[in-house]
Amino acid sequence: MISNRVFSGVQPTGSLHLGNYLGAIRNFVDLQSDYECIYCVVDLHALTQWQDPAELANNTREVAAAFIAAGIDPETSIIFNQSRVAAHTQVAWIFSCVARMGWLNRMTQFKEKAGKHRENASTGLFTYPNLMAADILAYLATHVPVGEDQKQHLELTRDIAQKFNHDFGVEFFPLVEPLIFGEATRVMSLRDGSSKMSKSDPSEQSRINFTDSADEIARKVRRATTDPEPLPSEPAGLAGRNEAANLVGIYAALARVTVADVLAEFGGRGFAEFKPALSDLLVEKLVPISDQMRRLMDDPSHIDAILAQGADRAAAVADPVRDRVYEIVGLIPA
Ligand code: TRP
Repeated sequence: MISNRVFSGVQPTGSLHLGNYLGAIRNFVDLQSDYECIYCVVDLHALTQWQDPAELANNTREVAAAFIAAGIDPETSIIFNQSRVAAHTQVAWIFSCVARMGWLNRMTQFKEKAGKHRENASTGLFTYPNLMAADILAYLATHVPVGEDQKQHLELTRDIAQKFNHDFGVEFFPLVEPLIFGEATRVMSLRDGSSKMSKSDPSEQSRINFTDSADEIARKVRRATTDPEPLPSEPAGLAGRNEAANLVGIYAALARVTVADVLAEFGGRGFAEFKPALSDLLVEKLVPISDQMRRLMDDPSHIDAILAQGADRAAAVADPVRDRVYEIVGLIPA
């Protein structure tokens, strides 16, 4: 059995921001040195909520471009879009027959996304975690880098793997492990340090987008909400200061140092000094990526060729797994 295969997915549902970078994409880049990595633009998951068709296609290419620009090597790792590899939906159907209503009823992300109008949510939104489990298990992946908010879906993936193995008396699917990363995996809004940086926040000021220019980054950091106190010299001093903690956390993550290191340098100094240092660091790290993304987006056919080649390589892994699943449950394979 493969002992170290990474799979992760990003939904193409809108412009990417700093939270996606520090919480996901940068970690995907780092994992390439230790794991065989498969990174998927999960376009089918995006469809669980209505998407403008032209925008969906564009956003799919944009996520792929962000992957590549950030440093995922499409020759070493596999980059592809989900809808191109049929095994995902084929295995997902089997999992829809393994997972229990009660399990899916407990998913907090469904409750959040469906909101008050549960009866109006698509059935795809409800069974979303079955497809996610299929994404991962169709590759017999063992490790999944995700944010905190996806931990429950990974637990469900383990439950599905276990029930499948048990129901059919096989030791086929591995139990996946989440890889949750350290500081600033949760980047918060620049306007409110208690809510997550999110593409659905109506205020553009709340987030730093991959496509922001150096000037836009500097302006957003300058206008970020803070308190009047200088920075503390120890991490404990950030308690109850969500906005300060967020900015220090972002700095630490980008500089690849600890929060304590940042405070050792900036403790006692005010935001008038810290903010320019933070925006310089953001510009230094993000602008080269967004420049490269723009160059890639200028040639969509090149991105499409990378996605097509990735899908071929992905299918070469996932199709035999699907065939084996079909065989295990008693379907006559092709
Ligand atoms: N549900 C994930 C999210 O919204 C995206 C996703 C789909 C995913 N399939 C996956 C993540 C498989 C990890 C592995 O962020």
